[in-house]
Amino acid sequence: MTRVWNKSDWRNKPRVQMPEYTDAAALNAAEAQLAKYPPLVFAGEARRLKDKLGQVAEGQAFLLQGGDCAESFSEFSADTIRDTFRVMLQMAVVLTYGAKCPVVKVGRMAGQFAKPRSADTETIDGVELPSYRGDIINDIDFTPESRIPDPQRMLQAYTQAAASLNLLRAFSTGGYADIHQVHRWTLGFTSDAKATDKYRDMAARISDSLDFMTAAGVNSGNSNKLRTVEFFTSHEALLLEYEEALCRIDSTTGVPVAGSGHMIWIGDRTRQPDGAHVEFAKGVQNPIGLKCGPTISTDDLKQLISTLNPENEAGRLTLINRFGAGKVGDHMPKLIRAVQEEGFKVVWSCDPMHGNTIKAASGYKTRPFESVLREVREFFEIHKSEGTYPGGVHFEMTGKDVTECTGGVRAVKDEDLSDRYHTACDPRLNASQSLELAFLVAEELSHQVEERRAAV
Ligand code: PEP
Ligand code: CO
Repeated sequence: MTRVWNKSDWRNKPRVQMPEYTDAAALNAAEAQLAKYPPLVFAGEARRLKDKLGQVAEGQAFLLQGGDCAESFSEFSADTIRDTFRVMLQMAVVLTYGAKCPVVKVGRMAGQFAKPRSADTETIDGVELPSYRGDIINDIDFTPESRIPDPQRMLQAYTQAAASLNLLRAFSTGGYADIHQVHRWTLGFTSDAKATDKYRDMAARISDSLDFMTAAGVNSGNSNKLRTVEFFTSHEALLLEYEEALCRIDSTTGVPVAGSGHMIWIGDRTRQPDGAHVEFAKGVQNPIGLKCGPTISTDDLKQLISTLNPENEAGRLTLINRFGAGKVGDHMPKLIRAVQEEGFKVVWSCDPMHGNTIKAASGYKTRPFESVLREVREFFEIHKSEGTYPGGVHFEMTGKDVTECTGGVRAVKDEDLSDRYHTACDPRLNASQSLELAFLVAEELSHQVEERRAAV
């Protein structure tokens, strides 16, 4: 049966968290321009990611998804991209080696520009202005002109995403990600963190194994797997004008595909079962993420899964849980049971960031690293007791040495937050916190993997 879905159907559904563009002609012109541009990703790549996530759903691999809360026009540089990519590589090595499990690597990159906000306006010193909604929509500067949604920004976001993807593809296949470089990925890091030392030890052991493999005749020259990595992109599909303009028909299958990134997700604030965002996501064949926060009911979840994954395809849907440390036990078991009862195939992923945002005494928005670690531990524990597979993690992180989340081995304190607080939106883990977290996840995961192997 042919699917009757149109990429503009979302326009007839209730929408939230989207800008009201005031200049319709300028909006139409920007959309028409984008619609002529090439897609950023190919349908075949999105299908390949779906296959890999299918392996995750079946407990054969692990999903590592991470990157900026909000990419920004001003922070855009080769170094920023390289540093985030490098930390992702390091984390993936820790997980692959530590848990002996293949890792599917997905960046919150090359498209992660639009932000949902908890309030429509922001007030500073008695002046109230519309909220900043991400660089693809308006400007973070606190002036009335800056906060007007400008459709031209979609074109700049597209250009930045294209250049970012180009560099990511080059890093992935051009030699930078060759596993023989495992030691060099630490360059530029401050060396006093325990996680960095642990990483160096692990890198030494990996090098040792590689020497053995070279002696046995397996090297980067004859093994693509050693020389390259597969790296995918993802973002929240919030700005539907942009998504629609980049939606294409896959010439191989005839099915629509979001050309804006390999995986797209629906945010916790825009997952209304009858809303515009679900309407758009249901019609594209990409892997879809669904953020699940404390307000999701089991009935909503079941309805959303049936709508978004009617064919129950493994890898199509990733449930990204974000409840907050101490609250996972109140929500996850009932969701897991509902999914199991229905026989739904999903990837369970843990976002330990968005349920743990607090305002520090200094006034900065932060996340205590301890809460982040605790939510991850709780996620693993609950899957263990439910007998289900904890398939992945989803982080906001950067390769830069920022001070945005408190805690970690090189403890960032509340009073340090102002030192290097650069995020355009939510606080991110810095490079050493990310690595520390990867070691915790590897440890938790290795227990699960061992138990599953023992049970086979
Ligand atoms: C995000 O991932 O940046 C985000 C806004 O998440 P959530 O929808 O889970 O709040
Ligand atoms: Co965020």
